[in-house]
Amino acid sequence: MKIAIPKERRANEARVAASPDTIKKFVGMGFDVVVETNAGEGASIADDSFSAAGASIAADEETALKDADIVFKVQRPLTAEEGLDELALLKSGAILIGHLAALQNKPQVEAYAKAGVTAFALEMLPRISRAQNMDILSSQSNLAGYKAVLDAAAEYGRAFPMMMTAAGTVAPARVLVLGAGVAGLQAIATAKRMGAVVYAFDVRPAVKEQVESLGGKFVEVDPDAVKDAETTGGYAKEMSEDYKRKQAEKIAETLRKTDIAISTALIPGKPAPVLITEEMVKGMRKGSVIVDLAVEAGGNCPLSEYGKVVVKHGVTLVGHANVPARLAADTSLLFAKNLLNFLSLSYDKENKGLVINWDDEIIKGTALTRDGLVVHPALAS
Ligand code: NAI
Repeated sequence: MKIAIPKERRANEARVAASPDTIKKFVGMGFDVVVETNAGEGASIADDSFSAAGASIAADEETALKDADIVFKVQRPLTAEEGLDELALLKSGAILIGHLAALQNKPQVEAYAKAGVTAFALEMLPRISRAQNMDILSSQSNLAGYKAVLDAAAEYGRAFPMMMTAAGTVAPARVLVLGAGVAGLQAIATAKRMGAVVYAFDVRPAVKEQVESLGGKFVEVDPDAVKDAETTGGYAKEMSEDYKRKQAEKIAETLRKTDIAISTALIPGKPAPVLITEEMVKGMRKGSVIVDLAVEAGGNCPLSEYGKVVVKHGVTLVGHANVPARLAADTSLLFAKNLLNFLSLSYDKENKGLVINWDDEIIKGTALTRDGLVVHPALAS
């Protein structure tokens, strides 16, 4: 069977869906692996490293994808409207695996079915312990949370740690992390290591202990209202209007004494909740920084702008696009490993090929299309 890894072509994407390490494993499992030339450029992986691991290098995407049985992508294929129909390069019967943003791109899911492509959207992986090593959202968010703090520090005109010098004392930065999931917890740990005083807030009460174990102070809104704030899958739910009002008051109060806000709050399949309003930004100290990691889902602050760093009301708003790709050399390795672990689930040692167990919860949770039909319960109409 042939596995193909094309170069990612979406704007702001620097990652690649394979690493020399995963290629070596796939070759050992009996797969032929083809990588498009320069696919690893943005992640600092040279063609030579891929070929030394056992891959062959294709001169262009068409050659790489021709006859491929399995195609690994970081992001969903480009469409004809976007200038290149990447799906048309896949053969009927091919398996496509990646972050396909399926809930936001339903017509494209229908196109996979029509093209006879079996697509797996890894962002829809169920959050069970068996799936942890395949979880692209976790592996990528972790590094995004770290990078968000570095991005904040780069824009902030003051220091993070307290410094006592002969010329006077520098006060430590006060950081508020909104949304203490995977990215948020890493942001708390990073800001703490850099010497900041860290506050954090989340709707899921389970998070309080995790925040405190990292040395952060948990900002509590209404302990009674949050009893039911978490889905069985570990994600946040949308909150009541009353809760949102109380939450807004508490956040406004905390932001007035905060220098840096890192917001990471997301609700799967929905726009990000607005947590920092324009009024709250106005109430922050001049020179403060907000890093909005939810900017791609509409933002936790309406003033942040996708792909830009802007200054409004004296506050710098950082809205970098695709933060995981800003650390592409590391995030690619983790993403590639997630793909290896996901495919290994269906690997049949005896035949050195794939046997997909369609009843497996992980397969059911991620399979979008099969035999020309859209099969995912969240998408099939
Ligand atoms: P996410 O990226 O969907 O959301 C980020 C954070 O924002 C979450 O902590 C969420 O509770 C919070 N949030 C949402 N709405 C909010 C609001 N209105 N105000 C404040 N905060 C809000 O979630 P993420 O980080 O991907 O994962 C959430 C949790 O899922 C993890 O902390 C973990 O407990 C669990 N998880 C389980 C895994 C497994 O067992 N395989 C793998 C990864 C995560």
